[in-house]
Amino acid sequence: MIRAALLAAAAAIAIPAAAQEARQTANFNAPVKSFGRVSYDARSLMIDGKRTIIWSSEMHAFRLPSPDLWRDVLQKMKASGFNTVAFYFDWGFHSPKQGVYDFSGIRDVDRLLTMAEEEGLYVITRAGPYVNAELTRGGFPGWLVNQRGRARTDDPEYLAASDEWLTRINAIIARHQINGDGKGNRGNVILHQIENELALTTPAQRRYMDHLYAKARADGINVPLFHNDQGRNGYWVPEDSKVEKTVPGPNDMYAFDGYPGGTCTVNGKPTRGSAAPDWGYYGPGGAKGGASASPNTPGFLAEFGGGWFDYWGSNGGYECNAIQRGKRFQRVFYGTNLANGIGIQSFYMGFGGTSWGWLPAPVVFTSYDYGAAFSETREVRPKAEELKQLGGLIAAVPDLAGMVPAGPVQISTDKVQVYHNKSPETDARFLLVTHKPSNGQTSDRFTVTADLPDGRYTLPMQLDGFDAKWLVAGVNLGGQRLVYSTSELQTLLKQDGGDIALIYGREGEAGETVLRYASAPKVTVLEGGATSTFDSAKGDLKLNYAHRGLTRVRISGGGRPDLLLLIGDEAEGAKFWHVGDVLVRGPALVRSAKIKGSALALTGDTREATPLEIWAPASVRNISWNGARVTGASLPGPADFSLPALTDWRVSRGSPEAAPDYDDRDWAKIDNRPYASITARADGQPNMLMDAYGFHEGDVWYRGRFTGTPDAQRLRLHYGAGGSGLVQVFLDGNLIGQDEIPAGLPRPLTTGAPSFALPDAAHAPREHVLSVMVRNNGHNWDLDADDFHKEARGLVSASIEPIAGPSFSVPIAWKIQGRAGGEDIADPVRGVPNNGGLDGERRGWHLPGFDDRGWKRYTVPGNQAPSGTIWLRTSFDLAVPKGQDATIGLAFGDTSKPRSPNAYRVLIFVNGWNMGQFIAHVGPQRVFPLPEGILNHRGRNHVALAVTADGVRGNGLEQVKLVTLRNVRGGIPVRMVAAPSTPSELKQVD
Ligand code: GAL
Repeated sequence: MIRAALLAAAAAIAIPAAAQEARQTANFNAPVKSFGRVSYDARSLMIDGKRTIIWSSEMHAFRLPSPDLWRDVLQKMKASGFNTVAFYFDWGFHSPKQGVYDFSGIRDVDRLLTMAEEEGLYVITRAGPYVNAELTRGGFPGWLVNQRGRARTDDPEYLAASDEWLTRINAIIARHQINGDGKGNRGNVILHQIENELALTTPAQRRYMDHLYAKARADGINVPLFHNDQGRNGYWVPEDSKVEKTVPGPNDMYAFDGYPGGTCTVNGKPTRGSAAPDWGYYGPGGAKGGASASPNTPGFLAEFGGGWFDYWGSNGGYECNAIQRGKRFQRVFYGTNLANGIGIQSFYMGFGGTSWGWLPAPVVFTSYDYGAAFSETREVRPKAEELKQLGGLIAAVPDLAGMVPAGPVQISTDKVQVYHNKSPETDARFLLVTHKPSNGQTSDRFTVTADLPDGRYTLPMQLDGFDAKWLVAGVNLGGQRLVYSTSELQTLLKQDGGDIALIYGREGEAGETVLRYASAPKVTVLEGGATSTFDSAKGDLKLNYAHRGLTRVRISGGGRPDLLLLIGDEAEGAKFWHVGDVLVRGPALVRSAKIKGSALALTGDTREATPLEIWAPASVRNISWNGARVTGASLPGPADFSLPALTDWRVSRGSPEAAPDYDDRDWAKIDNRPYASITARADGQPNMLMDAYGFHEGDVWYRGRFTGTPDAQRLRLHYGAGGSGLVQVFLDGNLIGQDEIPAGLPRPLTTGAPSFALPDAAHAPREHVLSVMVRNNGHNWDLDADDFHKEARGLVSASIEPIAGPSFSVPIAWKIQGRAGGEDIADPVRGVPNNGGLDGERRGWHLPGFDDRGWKRYTVPGNQAPSGTIWLRTSFDLAVPKGQDATIGLAFGDTSKPRSPNAYRVLIFVNGWNMGQFIAHVGPQRVFPLPEGILNHRGRNHVALAVTADGVRGNGLEQVKLVTLRNVRGGIPVRMVAAPSTPSELKQVD
């Protein structure tokens, strides 16, 4: 009776004028816009008409070249409370050559989207054409670098190129939309992004945006389209927004990105430099008003910091990033967003993965761990446990979607603020309790007095250090009525007619929960300590307890279904997994729970022997865990396993291109082909850029012939090679010098202009050969839409000249060679990022099946490597116990230090896959995780290392060893990724 009356009252409540502190920034009267099953108004997104909070995080399948493992990550996301995953797609990853596209194997986007749907996640697709993402060329293909037309404009040449990509990727996405494609295909894609942070807003960009919008629609994309503004600038807001100083665009929805809240760059320690911004209801209005810039669409953060990238030469920031944007930060910042009406939030990254091969942009090295919730090794980081608690609340209280400000509350201290929101439909409340400012770190005890749906109440509260509490009040939870709780709700489930609620709080803190009943219920404390009082006038049952371990209280009668109230401290809460109709306590991960008749089949992971407790419907009689019947009250942990030492190394000399008599007959002559780079070059010079000759990734070699003369005193080079790139110069077979581009942030240097003294030998009046290797560590991104990705790579110019005297240069006849086949790649299975143009790569020395029996033995560590590149190969067997999921990595030298005194660099090939680049003296990455599927966990493996050094004593390869980075019992089945094994299996391209 009471409940019915309350509901009726709630339904009659009109949306209030914005509360005092809340500046109204959204048009709550905006009409609902529908795109099939997806619709929205100013308050929230709706799916099938139901208001839904989109709680998303990002992963890049191209950064995990083992497709079976995509499912592992998706399952971990789902289990950690996300209901959505966001995917970027990397145009260049799929297209080695204009007109050539590949969506097979590791590039199987269709399979990825199917998996996401199977795992029950909604999908946000972000298909470029430009994505940024710390990728070489920001995701543009190599061949686009040669295009004269300016990218990210309406230049017809660029539009034709990007349409090529969009036609193909959109066709795949269209089949996976929640609305279906009209041809019987359907999936889970709910939102689609058409460009990325396009901050240049000239008419040419507007026409480009219009084109992209029309293209997506023509390709059958029928969900809302959006663009992610770089910040809350009001760029490309929907036409009808009519807010001054915003830039209108064709998009349906307005989204923006944000990475506020401190850094890790000071001493490698997290800073809490700024408070969580009010980018919505509680913030300033106007063009900078986020939600207000587009008053008719809901608050939408397409990217919000879930970590940060790390760069060449740092001290190793990922563990710090995981903490900086980790526990507490998530509560404070993501909670402030939610309170501000930002009901669509996607965290960048959820899983960062590996920028393997030549994927990285110059700003980053191989690991793209990002400090994300799921580490590069696929570990569920502690911060993911907090996300599970927050996502659990969002799932348990649908009233949270579409809330609006509810007016101020009284707080007994000015050190604390409370964001108080309500659902206009149900009057349910959300109270975000955090410091004022929210990065405050004091310890405070205080009270919060508020007019809640069930009356005026005073909540005794505590906030210790940087933190926020996500409280709900006046909500119906299953058959229960929660008046308020100072504990946070983690999850709720119905079982056998009763309810189970799990609430939690900071360890040792007092908690108070008030539930409403028609008459006094029976309260039984099953475990731990809690006291209760019943106020019969109001019908309030008040429970008091401390959050310590697990307290269990059964409440029955009082006119409601039975309630099992589980009260945990935070760590205890983190042990619970709510999957389907069951609640499980104990394992490190629960992936799935399927009930068939009386059988419950659970799958998941354990890190150690783990007690197991399950709340399942009474009909369940027997339980299995990963296929084995559960008999006792605990699950076994993983067995240890040993890794072989890498001792049996073989060596072969690389850099044969340096030899004067090397046969370069098949190499391309440097000529005057069109020059599209933004890098200026001297008049009359030929076009020496590697890209012009179809070589976009990795290493490229030049050979230049000249006739010796006393004027040949020095060689001046201008070259582009990306972050920490390298050039090595040989004269007649001898290294005369090398140049490395120094690491540095925020914009790393990417080009160099060294000068090398030529030895007297160059004066001899005969033919000499200069051999120059340029290692291209990635093309720039095009963040500012200024064609920065077209900065020169390879040699821009080279001149041999006298040191003093008249300006004069010795003529040189140049040739160039790069990756086998250029844009016609020899290994389409491993694809674009895998290979550059080292001679060993061209011969397939990196492949597992290459016969190295003729190679000499070599001892690692090798104090001295000859100048240039040497190739080392070894093989080993692994025997990871069945039913265990491990991540094994390759470690170089002293892993306790970010860099080595030895100057050398290594390209790491594992079973033929280029799994990254180690630069010993630059760092910081010394350990390279190798995903299963690339690595054979139960069988033979081959590693090939291309070690490049200057020949100076000491600059040799340090100890190389295998390390176990993670080991659990569980996981999912992973097959080896099929790929060419021997050189003869490569496409004959030359
Ligand atoms: C954003 C961009 C992403 C990524 C991120 C930083 O501005 O949209 O692609 O680059 O920054 O990791």
